[in-house]
Amino acid sequence: MKKNIVILSGDGIGPEVTNEAVKVLKVTGEASGVDIKIKEGLIGGVSLDTEGIPISDETVRKCKQADALFLGAVGGPEWDALPKDQKPESGLLILRKELGLFTNLRPVKVFPSLFDASPLRREIVQGIDVLVVRELTGGIYFGKPRFIESVGDEEHAVDTMEYRTSEIERIARVAFRAAQDRRRKVVSVDKANILMTSQLWRKTVNRVAKDYPDVSLDHMLVDNCAMQLVRNPKQFDVLLTCNMFGDILSDEASMLAGSLGMLPSASLGDCNGLYEPAHGSAPDIAGKELANPLAAICSVALMYRLSFGMESAARCIENGVQSVLNEGFRTSDLFSSGNGETLVSTSEMGNKVMERIKDSFPSSQ
Ligand code: IPM
Ligand code: MG
Repeated sequence: MKKNIVILSGDGIGPEVTNEAVKVLKVTGEASGVDIKIKEGLIGGVSLDTEGIPISDETVRKCKQADALFLGAVGGPEWDALPKDQKPESGLLILRKELGLFTNLRPVKVFPSLFDASPLRREIVQGIDVLVVRELTGGIYFGKPRFIESVGDEEHAVDTMEYRTSEIERIARVAFRAAQDRRRKVVSVDKANILMTSQLWRKTVNRVAKDYPDVSLDHMLVDNCAMQLVRNPKQFDVLLTCNMFGDILSDEASMLAGSLGMLPSASLGDCNGLYEPAHGSAPDIAGKELANPLAAICSVALMYRLSFGMESAARCIENGVQSVLNEGFRTSDLFSSGNGETLVSTSEMGNKVMERIKDSFPSSQ
C-alpha cells in the first residue's frame, strides 16, 4: 500500500513536533508495510515570509491530492500586526474550508501514568474518556460580514455567527455515530438562552437524535459545560460543539489529560483528513527542544486509524507513547515531582516512542 502525505510543519514549535511525528509516521509505515511518500508544503507565517500569502493555491492543490495531511502549528508574534486575512491562522482556515473538513475530532483520554500530571485531582481525571466533536468550517470563524471600521474617534468591529441546518445536521450525525461506538451519550453544547444560532443548533440536533434512538442526548449551555468539565469530566462521552465553543472547550479539556501537549486532533470531511496537534505554535518555547511532541505523535496514530483504517498500527503508536510515559520520561510540560521521572527534550521523547514502536513490530528488526 502506498500513501502520499503532505506535511505542513508551519511555525513556532510546529517544525519541532512535526519532525517527531514524521519519524513515527515513517517507522510505523515501514513496520506495517505502508510505503509512505512525503511532500512538504508551506502554511502560516513561513508561507507569508516566502510567498507573501498564508497558503498558496498550489499548496492547497497539493493537499487536495494527498491521501492525508499533517500540520504542526501556525502563528506567532512576528505576524500579529498584519491585516486579518494575511495572518498565519487564515492559512489554516482556508485549508479547512477548501478541503471541506467540517469535522474536528479531539479525543481526550488520560494515560494512567499521567493521572497526577493534571492540575485536577487524580480521582477527578482518572478514567476520563471524552471525544470532542467540533464543527470546523462554519460558525463565527467564517460568518460574514466581518470587519473593523473607524466610526468617529473610535473603531467598530463585527463578526458574524451563522449556521445553516445542513451544517448542523451533518456534524450532529458524526457525533451520534461516534457515540454508537462508545458509551452512547451525546451532550450538545450551545448558548440557546441567548444566541439564535444556538436555538437552531438545539432544534436541529433534537431532530437528528430521533434517528439514533440508542444514543442519549442532553443539551448543556456552554458556560455550564466549561464548569462541568472541571467539576465532573467523567459524565461526558461525546461533546458536540460549534466551531468556537469547541475551540475553547477542547483546550480546557486537554488539561484533564495533563497538558495541552497531549491532545491530538483529526479534521475530516468528504475526502482526505488533516491531522494536527490541538496546541498552537507556542513561540515562547520554539526552537528550544522543550515542546511535547506527543500530541503530534498521537495525531499520527489517528491518521493510521481514521484515514488508513489501520487500527493495529494506531494502537501500536499509542502503546509506544504509553510505554514511554510508564517508564517516566517527561517533557517539561508534564514534569512534576522528579520522582521516578526523567526530563527529556522534544527529540529524545520522539526517539523513545519510535524505539518502542520498533520493538513492538519484531518482524521489522
Ligand atoms: C485550533 C487552533 C486554531 C483554531 C487556530 C490556530 C486558527 O486554535 O485548531 O484549535 O482556532 O481553530
Ligand atoms: Mg484552539
